[in-house]
Order: sequence, then C-alpha cells, then structure tokens
Amino acid sequence: MDQVPSLRLNTRGEIPVIGFGTWQLSPEDAYSSVIEALEVGYRLIDTAKIYGNEEAVGEAVRNSKIPRQEIFLTTKLWNSDHGYDSALKAFDASLKRLGQDYVDLYLIHWPGDDRQRRADSWTALRDLYKEGRSKAIGVSNYTVRHLQELLDSTDTPPAVNQIEFHPFIYHEQKELLDFCEAEGIIFEAYSPLARGRRSDPLLEERGAKYGKSTSQVMLRWALQHGTVPLPRSADEGHIRENFEVFDFELSSVDMEAIDKINQTDRTAWNPTNLP
Ligand SMILES: NC(=O)c1ccc[n+]([C@@H]2O[C@H](COP(=O)([O-])OP(=O)(O)OC[C@H]3O[C@@H](n4cnc5c(N)ncnc54)[C@H](OP(=O)(O)O)[C@@H]3O)[C@@H](O)[C@H]2O)c1
Repeated sequence: MDQVPSLRLNTRGEIPVIGFGTWQLSPEDAYSSVIEALEVGYRLIDTAKIYGNEEAVGEAVRNSKIPRQEIFLTTKLWNSDHGYDSALKAFDASLKRLGQDYVDLYLIHWPGDDRQRRADSWTALRDLYKEGRSKAIGVSNYTVRHLQELLDSTDTPPAVNQIEFHPFIYHEQKELLDFCEAEGIIFEAYSPLARGRRSDPLLEERGAKYGKSTSQVMLRWALQHGTVPLPRSADEGHIRENFEVFDFELSSVDMEAIDKINQTDRTAWNPTNLP
C-alpha cells in the first residue's frame, strides 16, 4: 500500500485511519518500534507525557526517512498539569522533549476531577491550536457527559476523543461512538487489541475464514466501525501484521457477530464516575 488512508478532521487537515501506540514502551523499545512502524507505513504515532518516552519517540520521528509533514504526531496533557498556565507549560515541555516545533494533535489525557481546571486546560489547548503549535486538539477518556459539557462551553470543539474500544467493550462504548459520529468528532480506539489479554473462539474462527490473525480481525472490526485504532507492539512481526488490515473486509454478518461478543470487559480505568 502506497499511502495509509485518512479521515477528515473537523478542524484542519486529515488523520490516518490507523496509528501506532507507545504506552508501556521503554525509551529503547519506543525508538526502535517507532522507526519500524514508520518504515512499515504507519503515519500516526501516539505518545503522552506520562509514557515517559517522548524524547525517544521524537528522536525516531526525526531520524526516520519520512518527511515530518507526512507524520501525524500526538501527545497528551497529564492530569497533574490541568489548568490554563500549567497546560501551556506542560505543552512547551512536551514539545521540547519531542524535539519538535509543533504536534499534529494535543489531547487532554483524562477529564480529571475538577470541572473548572479542565475547562481552563481546554482554553489553553484552544490557544495552542489558534497559534498553530498544535495542528488539532482533542480529548481522551471523555464520556458523553464530559463531551457535552465541553461542547456547550466552547466555540472550538474537540477534533478527537481517544477511548478504550475493542469487541469486549463494544456495547458499553456504543452510545459514545454514536455521539462522536453525530458531532463529527473522530473516535480513536485505544487498547484495540484489549492489551493482548482477551480472546474469543469467534475471533479465531473469523480469522481462519479470512486467512488473518485474531489481532487483524479486531483491528479490521475497529476500522469498519469508523474508529482509528492505535495498536501497540514492540515486536517487529506484530508491528507489520497489525498494519496488514487493508486487504480484506469483514462482511456485515461477521461485523454483527463480533459486535455481540461484548463482555463489558474494560482494561483501563473507568472515567464514567469522574465529575
Ligand atoms: N488515552 C489513554 O488513556 C490510553 C490508554 C491506553 C492506551 N492508549 C494508547 O493506545 C495504545 C494501544 O493500547 P495498549 O497499549 O493498551 O494495548 P493494545 O494495543 O490493545 O495491546 C498491546 C499488547 O498486544 C500485544 N500485541 C500487539 N500486536 C499483537 C499481535 N499481532 N499478536 C499478538 N499480540 C499482539 C503486544 O505485545 P507485543 O509487544 O509482544 O506485540 C502488547 O502486549 C497505547 O499504546 C497508547 O498509545 C491510550
């Protein structure tokens, strides 16, 4: 495949339909895995201050043979940095660690437990967006309630909401998925492989039918739901395998069967009870 397909953002530009996650990758693994991912064809790289690997990710982006403008680089504002001034300071520090003069997407990592501070953080992100230092801005782990609160209070809606999404949590996230679609907010699927901790005979069976692995079936399912999955791997074979999802299509019958796997099985913290 020459170029990874992309989706239009509600702000400026486009976002690749699949990305590469870097949570829990040591700086050494993050560097080699991001180099490998870019070589394989991924063009979206997802990091965060809290992952502790921004320097390595930024170095890999700079050392890759891919022109910077062809790479979509995301980082995130950590919980302890909420507030207007602290968000701006945290952004500057992230850019410095990344060795970049802009990012393509800056996300509020979690809504946090203080409505005013998260609103102030959003004002800071809006200013960064208006200055072009972050080409797009968004949120992560926002429920419908958090999104509605934000939409009611701003003239700059989030371009993206990054949320846990895989077949084992489908029903719990469906309302949020529909809400994001209706509002034109791109839904990024984190832990799209359920962190490699869950499987189901149906996924294996469908994998055999299409000549694909269960991971590829899970990623294809996320793509066909219109989300942007962000698989993570430190394994060269898995990095390649997870990108080979553009040469098959799940039938609508198989999509519906996978939808029904749902076991309401969350791997991350649940943001539902955050105020
Ligand atoms: N915004 C947030 O709060 C948030 C939270 C969680 C995650 N995220 C983002 O989403 C990304 C992905 O989520 P995640 O890291 O939780 O987990 P994930 O991508 O669902 O799963 C990663 C695990 O699956 C394994 N794996 C990957 N490809 C495989 C394959 N083809 N076959 C078998 N095993 C495979 C990996 O092991 P190997 O290394 O051995 O391949 C690793 O243990 C993160 O890295 C991060 O960028 C964001």
